[in-house]
Amino acid sequence: QNIQWFPGHMTKTKRQIQASLKLVDAVAEIIDARIPVSSRNPDLDSIIQNKPRVVLMNKCDMADPSSTQKWINYFKNNGIVAIPIDCKTGRGINKFVSSVNEVLKEKIEKQKAKGLLNPTVRVMIVGIPNVGKSTFINRISKNRKAKAEDKPGVTRGNQWFTINKGFEVLDTPGVLWPKFEDKIVGERLAFTGAVKDQIMDTELLAMRLLDFLKVEKNPIFVERFKLQNDQIEDIESYELLELIGRKRGMLISGGEIDTERAAIMLLDEYRSAKLGKYTFELPEN
Ligand code: G4P
Repeated sequence: QNIQWFPGHMTKTKRQIQASLKLVDAVAEIIDARIPVSSRNPDLDSIIQNKPRVVLMNKCDMADPSSTQKWINYFKNNGIVAIPIDCKTGRGINKFVSSVNEVLKEKIEKQKAKGLLNPTVRVMIVGIPNVGKSTFINRISKNRKAKAEDKPGVTRGNQWFTINKGFEVLDTPGVLWPKFEDKIVGERLAFTGAVKDQIMDTELLAMRLLDFLKVEKNPIFVERFKLQNDQIEDIESYELLELIGRKRGMLISGGEIDTERAAIMLLDEYRSAKLGKYTFELPEN
């Protein structure tokens, strides 16, 4: 599917972030715990370089907990502090300030040794659209509400928020796009709802999701549609979509199954976490 790609946007965001990097001590990168690879901006590492960083694995309420742990360990082995968070309920968020302070420990100690008492810690929050930046900032900041919308392409000025006395965060300057020109990345962003506009055929997207669900055989999914494990063993994803549509009585005239409706229902139920918790990308792959 065709997606308009404007390289100019990325150049501009890159400049905005590089300029703002000088104002902060650390970067907090928010990623989607279900798609830790696809929900990253491919240029971020080269933009932030050696700046101290923490990774916030958001939406972990919808990710497979053991996979989230694997990612945390993976980051740890690469010298990066990562914490699981869930901005919907606020779980894990209280670890944010302490993990940043941990990462900046040496710097803060040096400042104290120079006689600078209680220096202000400033952190830039970065992440692709819809990963949960506004929700996170709303949860942690007490003084002001972050804008809950994020209009791609619209430049926003630097927005600072006070978390505690001596701790401030800066929202992403500019828009950090994911690598959605990559087909697999695009699909994963679409079925997790990170890309809201319909960038793909709905039935095809539901089939891609079923490719994954039928291998996982999560009991919540299997029971929800009253499937049998052996039924989904060798089935084509389109047939499985038909089967699910039939189970839900989604018929059109002539007894055919309304696969379009079944696809919309399936994606909707997945996105509202009714089919179980899944992580689509693991460190070992
Ligand atoms: P952004 O600033 O990075 O663009 O993202 P934003 O905070 O607007 O969040 C995008 C969507 O993700 C919102 O849903 C938000 O509620 C949801 N979200 C954020 N963090 C979490 C989380 O930890 N768990 C879950 N389950 N969802 C999360 P929305 O559909 O746009 O709005 P609404 O459902 O809140 O009305």
